[in-house]
Amino acid sequence: MSDREYLQDKHEDGHLITFVKASRDGLVIFPRGVRQEVRLADDEMIVFTGSLLTTLSDGKIPYMEHAVLNPAVPVSRSSLVYFAIPDLHAPYPSFVEGQALDLHRIANDFHQSFGNKPFSE
Ligand SMILES: [Fe+2]
Repeated sequence: MSDREYLQDKHEDGHLITFVKASRDGLVIFPRGVRQEVRLADDEMIVFTGSLLTTLSDGKIPYMEHAVLNPAVPVSRSSLVYFAIPDLHAPYPSFVEGQALDLHRIANDFHQSFGNKPFSE
């Protein structure tokens, strides 16, 4: 047992959209910076936005930061996660301003910011 507040610290996923279904509570989101616990019914999942969508929307659609709480007692918990990612080599213009975007470079920079190797390796 750790005294850490989170099992997974606050972050955003760096994709377009993330779909999550967990076997129990523990996920928290930070809409407008305010922490909110996610409580889902058995037949619900949560969908949240990532920074590629923020970039594509010229900042109009904010990404959703999220984290996983560290429970007071050890419990079994698993999550099924699906990341929606565009074709990173396609020349998408941004939705509002029509700016040319290099999504491969943007996504790769984010990927490497966590200490990962570049996509090409
Ligand atoms: Fe995440």
